Amino acid sequence: MTIENILSPWAQNVSPSPTLAVDAKAKALKAAGEDVCGFGAGEPDFDTPSFIKEACAQALADGKTKYAPAGGLPELRKALAQQYQDYGVLEEANPAQVVVSPGGKYSCYLAILATCGPGDEVLIPAPYWVSYPEMAKLAGATPKFIFAGDDQGFKVSAGQIEETLSANTKLVILNSPSNPTGCLYEKAEMEAIVELACRKDFLLMSDEIYEHLLYDDAEHHRPASFSKEAAERVITVSGFSKTFSMTGWRLGTLVANPTIAKAVASLQSQTTSNATTFAQFGALAAVQDWDQAMQAVQDMLVHFDRRRLKLLEGLQAIEGISCLRAQGAFYLFPKIAELGLRSEEFSARLLEEEKVAVVSGHAFGAEGYVRLSYATSDEVIEKGLDRLSRFAMSLD
Ligand SMILES: Cc1ncc(COP(=O)(O)O)c(C=O)c1O
Repeated sequence: MTIENILSPWAQNVSPSPTLAVDAKAKALKAAGEDVCGFGAGEPDFDTPSFIKEACAQALADGKTKYAPAGGLPELRKALAQQYQDYGVLEEANPAQVVVSPGGKYSCYLAILATCGPGDEVLIPAPYWVSYPEMAKLAGATPKFIFAGDDQGFKVSAGQIEETLSANTKLVILNSPSNPTGCLYEKAEMEAIVELACRKDFLLMSDEIYEHLLYDDAEHHRPASFSKEAAERVITVSGFSKTFSMTGWRLGTLVANPTIAKAVASLQSQTTSNATTFAQFGALAAVQDWDQAMQAVQDMLVHFDRRRLKLLEGLQAIEGISCLRAQGAFYLFPKIAELGLRSEEFSARLLEEEKVAVVSGHAFGAEGYVRLSYATSDEVIEKGLDRLSRFAMSLD
């Protein structure tokens, strides 16, 4: 065995997460004593609501430290099935159609692995979340991209998807509200895509991990709820990380037709077994006391919204930068192309020269843009904007 062939084709093909890399670099600079303004993080900066933590601590105290069924705690699956029936995603509250996994990321991966293989194409609207193409490759499938810039609100149309379809298209990925753009699809835009999926016979994975982080009275739409046929071909993925500031808990969800849900649970049973048992009791408390859970989210949203508007206003005031008013998640995705640098060089130099960490649009399949997360303090936003403005002026 040589050093060249020691790794599998899967390991050789996969790229490490660029968003985690930026965050790690910013944290390393901070640890070395540098005053870094970090806009790289993809996680809320609040603590998990205390009633959720208490339910988990109680579960630990009660000895809930053993394996759980692979698909998730029966009471959590049942509560989620009820919730998804209320949303109109499930016709009946059938827990067998719900899987609880170790994170939304793993739910996405299992959705792709359960439905796509060699020869299949996965259509990914760009700008995209960095993990989708890698997951498609790990499943042996081929990722294909459709680009939508700021001129179309970063949203692909059904027409664009139709033009890109081939006989091998198996799955199209939707992510609304989106990482990295924060943009949301309108109901009519989603309906047109679902109608196309039914007419052209492909599956949809709807990644709704940011579904509760909405501003300006924007509404989230669940494509699986549009019709009985839609519910059959849409795999709905979500999780607790972003909504309840539970990124480290590793808890994701997946809702699909019984065939796909069963396959996902089987894949999970052979790979990770179950999501951590006592963590699931924390999630159960959130779903069972939804009013309290949503109140906690509202409290976080007040801060997110204030920061969003501060960052948006600051970015729009910088000459050479334009930015859409995104209505979801906690990201803004300004265009920096006019400043004359490729986005990778822009973000590298910004970190080097001004100690401001942003993620290059290149990582999301969108050259000419950068992603800023406003899951950070008002102070960092203000200081970061001053530095960004100085950096932009230095490029003249
Ligand atoms: C679009 C999107 N989907 C899924 C996830 C996965 O979240 P987690 O695995 O923490 O639940 C993320 C996290 O960054 C994301 O941005």
